Amino acid sequence: METQVKTSDNSVWRKKPLAAYEQDMKKSELKRVLTRWGLTSLGIGAVIGGGIFVLTGIAAHDWAGPALALSFVLAGIACTFAALCYAEFASILPVEGSAYAYSYGTVGEIFAWFIGWNLILEYMMGATTVAVSWSGYFEKLLHLFHIDPPVWLMNDPVTAQEKAEALRAAGQVIPDFSFAVNLPAFLIVWLVTYILVKGIKEAASTNNLIVMLKVTAVIFVIIAGSFFVDITNWTPFIPEMVTDATGQKHYGFSGVVTAASIVFFAYIGFDAVSTQAGEAINPRKDVPFAIIASLIICTLLYILVSLVLTGMVRYDSLDLKAPVAQAFADVGLTWAVYIITIAAIAGLTSVMLVMMLGQTRIFLGMAKDGLLPRGLFAAIHPTFKTPWKSTIFVGFIVSIVAALTPIDKVSELCSSGTLLAFAMICAAVWLLRVREPNLERPYRTPALPVIATLGIVANLYLMYNLRTDTKIAFVIWGTLGIIVYFLYSRRHSNLNNPE
Ligand code: ALA
Repeated sequence: METQVKTSDNSVWRKKPLAAYEQDMKKSELKRVLTRWGLTSLGIGAVIGGGIFVLTGIAAHDWAGPALALSFVLAGIACTFAALCYAEFASILPVEGSAYAYSYGTVGEIFAWFIGWNLILEYMMGATTVAVSWSGYFEKLLHLFHIDPPVWLMNDPVTAQEKAEALRAAGQVIPDFSFAVNLPAFLIVWLVTYILVKGIKEAASTNNLIVMLKVTAVIFVIIAGSFFVDITNWTPFIPEMVTDATGQKHYGFSGVVTAASIVFFAYIGFDAVSTQAGEAINPRKDVPFAIIASLIICTLLYILVSLVLTGMVRYDSLDLKAPVAQAFADVGLTWAVYIITIAAIAGLTSVMLVMMLGQTRIFLGMAKDGLLPRGLFAAIHPTFKTPWKSTIFVGFIVSIVAALTPIDKVSELCSSGTLLAFAMICAAVWLLRVREPNLERPYRTPALPVIATLGIVANLYLMYNLRTDTKIAFVIWGTLGIIVYFLYSRRHSNLNNPE
């Protein structure tokens, strides 16, 4: 492997000395306020969102059938391998910056940069996707109260024209418009930005409240829905494989795997806990705990929700936009639709909160190392003690993209970046065990070579199952990252001046 090559200071494989992390931790200006359950709540807050409330519909309807639960198990297993590796890293280097920071100290600068670059897809594109999903649910909520704002105020320009044409075709009178903006998505991003600039403590307590509401709603779905399960809907559990006109295989085992790569999005976020290490009271123990606890809790909830959902409604009749809410409408529990819609709105808000928080902490880590401009990404507010300029920058980008871009497929781009980052982290934690076997490790990944290998294979396999245009977009993004590295980051890296 290239990483074995001996490096000089100028090499792209140069590493940040582990002692420098200790210094960073001592110098950190962030407030240490997060407890073990506060961190777990942040993890769950980042995880339960658009994946379970939206993507379950298409995954079961088009790909897995009732075996959706199996797809959640497969994606959950791939995440578990990555989570176990993340946990060991987080226990050694409890600094902000997550996977990026860990690999800078172990594998080398260009590898770390590339992980950081992929994490931008995970966090910023994740937050953008969720902002647009939020807007969709918000529109549904308004509709429940018989308020229907014009399409040009609720959608990006392309989607707005498509919707207007569809409505006109259905006989509605929709006046022409030349401008459209997804205003709810734009505004919710700025509300989240405001909370994040004000401070992590406020953000954490807001988040705890929302997480409680969201988990209660999911448990409600499982318990109330179980009374309406018709077990004949589970047969056949894995429908027979069919090949469509374009050669895509649906159902059968390959359909279950494709569904797993789609619902993988539902798990994204548990790793966000590792971006908050700089604000944790006892990061070495509590960050590994929170990563694993939030993943286990969400996996169990997801498997139960998918069983209930495919038991309530036959998979080929599931709604594609709001499958969970619609399942309750279908069985006549209309009042439950209100509860689920409100919980989805709150739940999506907390996903955005943690995604954007995570992004600013990764930027902070990269800027402190000189790989990104410090003035913008490492400026800490004197009173709030938050990276306020960076937060506003992230809010600006996410709000503009969410307001103006049709992003149905962005969830897959977000997944591709995350899957590669997960595979890379599994490789990096293993490498560190070999190179630095005597480092203090408050948490050790069990059976590491096996877990790391399985993690690399499982995550790359899910990545391979993504659609071709997602893979092309991903390659373009990666190439851009390498260019930025050579034009800016390599030249400004702290490692150019070890002093
Ligand atoms: N896991 C997050 C969601 O499903 C990103 O919304």
